[in-house]
Amino acid sequence: MISQQTIEHIQQVADIVEVVSDFVPLKRKGQNMMACCPFHNEKSPSFSVSPGKGIYKCFGCGKAGDSIRFVMDIESLSYIEAIRYLAAKYNIVIEEDRPVMDEGMQQAQHERESLMIALTWAKSFYQKRMLENEDGRLYGLSYFRERGFHDKTLAAFELGYAPDAWREFTDAALKAGFSLEILQKAGLTIVKEEGKMFDRFRGRVIFPIHNVTGKTIAFGARILKPSKDQPKYLNSPETEVYHKSKSLYGIFQAKNAIRNEDNCYLVEGYTDVISLNQAGIENVVASSGTSLTDEQIKLIARYTENITVLYDGDTAGIKASLRGIDMILEAGLNVRVVTFPEGQDPDSFVRKVGTPAFKEHIKKTGTDFITFKINLQLEEIGNDPIRKAGLIRDIVESIVKIPDPIKRAVLYKQCSTLLGVEETMLISEGNKHMLTQQKQPGRPLQTRDRPASGGGAPNYPDIPFLPPPDDLFMPPGEMPEYVALPPVKEEVRKFGAQEREVVRMLISYSTLELEAQYYVCNYLLDETQEVAFQDPLLDKVLQIFKIELAKGAIPGTDFFLKHPDGEVQRLAIDLTTERHELSPFWFEKHKIITPHEKDNLTDAAFKTVLRLKQELIKKMVYENMLLLAKASETGNIEEQTRCMQIHTELKAAEREIAGHLGNVITS
Ligand code: GTP
Ligand code: MN
Repeated sequence: MISQQTIEHIQQVADIVEVVSDFVPLKRKGQNMMACCPFHNEKSPSFSVSPGKGIYKCFGCGKAGDSIRFVMDIESLSYIEAIRYLAAKYNIVIEEDRPVMDEGMQQAQHERESLMIALTWAKSFYQKRMLENEDGRLYGLSYFRERGFHDKTLAAFELGYAPDAWREFTDAALKAGFSLEILQKAGLTIVKEEGKMFDRFRGRVIFPIHNVTGKTIAFGARILKPSKDQPKYLNSPETEVYHKSKSLYGIFQAKNAIRNEDNCYLVEGYTDVISLNQAGIENVVASSGTSLTDEQIKLIARYTENITVLYDGDTAGIKASLRGIDMILEAGLNVRVVTFPEGQDPDSFVRKVGTPAFKEHIKKTGTDFITFKINLQLEEIGNDPIRKAGLIRDIVESIVKIPDPIKRAVLYKQCSTLLGVEETMLISEGNKHMLTQQKQPGRPLQTRDRPASGGGAPNYPDIPFLPPPDDLFMPPGEMPEYVALPPVKEEVRKFGAQEREVVRMLISYSTLELEAQYYVCNYLLDETQEVAFQDPLLDKVLQIFKIELAKGAIPGTDFFLKHPDGEVQRLAIDLTTERHELSPFWFEKHKIITPHEKDNLTDAAFKTVLRLKQELIKKMVYENMLLLAKASETGNIEEQTRCMQIHTELKAAEREIAGHLGNVITS
């Protein structure tokens, strides 16, 4: 752990102009320096550096950050690596903090380290055993050679061989000084009640499983010849350092390629990963026979948003991929599917056809999940209307799992073409499904969909049809209008813009006082306490802010401009440069100077909060109307009354806010 002092020292010393100038020539323009952006292709410069703020921002591609972020982006380094780079450039000695741990944590840490050391030792043992002993070469090495693995590949994946003997490994490890307890806890040695012990892996070839940093954390071991009473693969058990559901085979070897290709191939087996890697397709990991977990998906999501599932052609493989696909969608990632001819897996297929034909196969047969699911089932279903309805429900259930409403809209359209079903029908089916999902506690609220195009009311079957105006529960003047609802997307967008405004004010003026000891941030946080922010990134900034505040200091603009989380940092830069400060074009183009809101901060903060509340209420009105529509559909009078009352209250609040903001409410 690099100490906070060192990081701050580097932030102070690493001048943004100096750091950037090592890579691109900068030209002065007003207060800023300009260049052609090193992150995308362009002819006229839109990459701007602000020496005063210590940040850069490209108005073309949106990349932005401070000196550390620039080094990370341009050299593809991690945060810590970038710190080390800058420390070297400026001759700064890095101080390392000893992590603060209590005794229990220290002991656990110590034990994990011991396990890792034992596992690394075991890995080298199996490697040597394969390369340096006669039986190792005869059985292990020749097995891998037969499978077509080159020496370079054997080394890259650290493959090895476990001898066909009861205690050879354990005896050697004990002799090397490892305790039996550690060997057992590492899953390498099995100890029976009577105290008898033996090696877990015997007479098998060994596939070390690495964590993202390349440390060995477990093993997979394959039998050499097919056997009836022995499993083909034997794996390490769960240990302190190996959690099956959180690891992916090949992630260490694949991670850079995944980032560069912005795509991750997901296969089933160890040998699929290795063969593809050898064939030059390096962005590939395996879930190793178990079904995919959320944690594994999150691990991939660190490097890319795109997953291509490459599964065997047999039915079990396809079934397994269907479950995995829904989970990937739910995580908000994009997924494509490639299948292989019956009886082939990626390993055998790439060896059979070669790399170019393999890539061609992926390009030609790769489909998005909708097409995949539909094609898979349509042949089987034929024209049976009942089964077709089932298929539609199934597909729609997948679509509503996608968090992004825009992606959902695209998929509804596509699905409608493929199935020959009205898009509106699919959407209302999906919205119905969302409603039932939302009734389950703990699920985030999702906004219902509407068709993207078309515009007119007849295309909106999910618009609430309200009870007739002669209804007794409300004075006629309070009756909500129906078709007047704006499209949902617009509602969400507006709401998002107001959330953004609140966060912008928060990080721009947090430390300014409104009254004695009452700061802008206190006001904004107090007023938005009960508002659930919809945008996950804005919400994250809010949480970070609260944590810092709880620690006793108000984080200022600089805290966010230098934040190690790139996403947070970029948002902070976007928010604080939105007006005109970093853009040399703004002033020239518009010939205006925005009156500085800082001069009337109380008013600005007040209005920002009110606008957020206004949008929030609009959203609540809309959602209440949906409930009302549902209640009237099912004839639930009690619920209708309740909704009407809520509507009246919301409208009253809306009017009050409008009064303060000086605008008029129409509906
Ligand atoms: P090869 O036969 O060596 O090409 O392996 P494969 O990867 O093609 O095997 P297969 O498609 O049968 O299985 C895919 C993955 O499932 C393997 O890589 C293993 O991770 C896992 N697997 C297969 N068989 C077993 C088994 O018997 N036990 C366990 N625990 N895992 C298995
Ligand atoms: Mn295989």
